Amino acid sequence: QSLQPFHTFSLPSHCQHFHQIDDVEQLVNTDFSAPFCILGEGSNTVFLTDYQGTVIYMATKGIEIEELNDHFLLHVAAGENWHQLVSMTIANDMPGLENLALIPGTVGAAPVQNIGAYGVELEKFISYVEYFDIASASINRLSKEQCLFGYRDSIFKHALKNKAVITKVGLTLPKQWQPILHYGPLQQLHNPTAQQVFEQIIATRNSKLPNPSELANAGSFFKNPVISNEQLADLLKSYPDMPHYFVDAQHHKVAAGWLIEQAGLKGHRIAGVEVHQQQALVLVNHGNSTGDDLIAMVNYVQQHVWQKYHIALQHEVRLMNADHECHIHLESQ
Ligand code: EPU
Repeated sequence: QSLQPFHTFSLPSHCQHFHQIDDVEQLVNTDFSAPFCILGEGSNTVFLTDYQGTVIYMATKGIEIEELNDHFLLHVAAGENWHQLVSMTIANDMPGLENLALIPGTVGAAPVQNIGAYGVELEKFISYVEYFDIASASINRLSKEQCLFGYRDSIFKHALKNKAVITKVGLTLPKQWQPILHYGPLQQLHNPTAQQVFEQIIATRNSKLPNPSELANAGSFFKNPVISNEQLADLLKSYPDMPHYFVDAQHHKVAAGWLIEQAGLKGHRIAGVEVHQQQALVLVNHGNSTGDDLIAMVNYVQQHVWQKYHIALQHEVRLMNADHECHIHLESQ
């Protein structure tokens, strides 16, 4: 089975076995003994080479809406498309998710990296996450607190990595709604409706982020690094315009896209892999590229950013080699 259409970075790759899950019951009979990789729409996973294992493609569907006194509780199957869910809630007067419009991928993948954009992270709306526990072949449910959400992080990347298949997500949408407008392009809106925020987010994303169906990419490729206040103060002496955001009393987050652009890397190309012209945090694939080209690009970006700012960029995208997930680290470290 070719994986090229199943991951949005679209490198040529084949897998040994491909197993589509349309009903959670099928998971009981799934063989998890060989290397396996759980996949939604593949918008945050890149297959660098052929995969010598089983790809488990989550395609379960279903949205249940419960109306309670002060909120709606949505029970959503893992294989539902995230943006379609957001659109449905906005069209049906259930505001809240508008800042997260147009994020690619499935509902089941969303909690893994706690998707976030424009001042809002998914965790704010999580009631529970239900998963199939591979070892016991049973369904478990975690509360929001048990999911240990962080910036692009959750328990599913740590203690439950390769142990759980997310099957359903419970979302709470309070009836009392307040727009979140502190992010740049949203500040121009005055008393907007959720529909107007939704449309502004779509316009903003479309102006910067390449649509994976037109130009292969996997969204932000690197995480925005968190650095100490001391390092930030030092960097601001040389780069007073460097965007930075408060994290906690000791740390700030800096914009990796800005670091990459100021290092002169926008438009840098290795085979068909390019640092995107509109958003340097995104790598795009024009085609005719291999996993090695992408690895070379990741190394190149990491090295240049390290040389200029002494910041080690970590990739945010999940990279799969022949039989497991891998991490590309700065070569000099
Ligand atoms: N910037 C540049 N040059 C660039 C890119 C960014 O100077 O090429 C500057 C911008 O001008 C801005 C700052 O860097 O001052 C931040 O840029 P932006 O607002 O575009 O957001 P980001 O930090 O690059 C993050 C998320 C995105 C999310 C946006 C909006 C991560 C890794 N990425 O990007 O999420 O949509 O904020 O909230 O946290 C994703 O994860 O795939 C993703 C697209």
